[in-house]
Amino acid sequence: MSSSLAIAALVVLLAGVSRGLIGFGAALIIIPTLVTLYGPVEAVVIMSLLESGDHVIAFNDLYGGSRRLFTQVFQAKFDIHFDFVDARNAKNVVDKISDETRMIWLETPTNPMMRLCDIREISEAAGERNIIVAVDNTFMSPYFQRPLELGADVVMHSTTKYLNGHSDSVGGCLMLNDDELYDKLKFNQNAIGAILSPFDSFLVSRGIKTLPLRMERHNANAMAIAQFLENHPKVRTVHYSGLSSHPQHELAKRQMQGFGGMISFELDAGIKESSRFLERLKFFSLAESLGGVESLAELPALMTHASVPPEERDRLGIGDSFIRLSVGIEHIDDLLEDLEWSLSQVKSST
Ligand SMILES: Cc1ncc(COP(=O)(O)O)c(C=O)c1O
Repeated sequence: MSSSLAIAALVVLLAGVSRGLIGFGAALIIIPTLVTLYGPVEAVVIMSLLESGDHVIAFNDLYGGSRRLFTQVFQAKFDIHFDFVDARNAKNVVDKISDETRMIWLETPTNPMMRLCDIREISEAAGERNIIVAVDNTFMSPYFQRPLELGADVVMHSTTKYLNGHSDSVGGCLMLNDDELYDKLKFNQNAIGAILSPFDSFLVSRGIKTLPLRMERHNANAMAIAQFLENHPKVRTVHYSGLSSHPQHELAKRQMQGFGGMISFELDAGIKESSRFLERLKFFSLAESLGGVESLAELPALMTHASVPPEERDRLGIGDSFIRLSVGIEHIDDLLEDLEWSLSQVKSST
């Protein structure tokens, strides 16, 4: 199933390339399952389904850019109200549903805390009330998690990440299984002009050909690194749903077909030592993005999640020594050696 989905995406993207630019904003909408977009605008297109006065419930741990878009643009300027809840417990989501609720926005596992929510349970509760469930599936890719099969209505991927996989294109796509919703989104996409360029389409279609191979390797490398970190004295906590110590490991096994390449962990050190730890790494480049073949490392508090209010970061546990890794497909021995050396130089805060 995972490879057929990848192939469907590939075919659509190639079809888009061969047709070229059909007209303003219309180049890459080919079949009613996938809408390809340019960059972070994928979330904007989903939000364009809403009207002023509508209410959205979102996971409180999200990619920082999504939260910024929701609060500082849609809430501040368009009067769409957001409640951010801990969706690990589906009841917290259901309790916030009101007559105005039109959408539930989920990310699972979340960026950067690697928390999960039960897509099926939340989708069932939403379906009874005609509420759209949107899932940002960027971390897992369709290879490891397919939210439409679990009851979600719209699935978003930043193709910049695993689908392209080579960190040389910016884009996004929406996956749907409902013609009516597709027509609405297609109309809005066309009106907004949010399309992927032919060259980016080519790059993503090339990347998708190796998605299964890459995802297997990301997963195997990340698992080995998570286990290594978990046993290291300079590491306080590791967040990776593939570890049996992860509080939602059972849900991860049920809902996903693998655990992916994203790990976060907390060093037993302060901000200076954490920065030095990152600077010493040779195989992990200090950078914000994720999902490419090369390993990356970053400090969310100063980088990807700097726009999240400090008190919210504290509440979530995104502290100064909280590090996020995007584990690439390099040889695992090189990655472990790199981490081991840099960790050995860390001066513990205790
Ligand atoms: C989970 C998640 N979703 C969406 C995005 C947006 O990516 P882009 O701007 O490349 O579309 C990111 C970026 O880091 C992300 O981590």
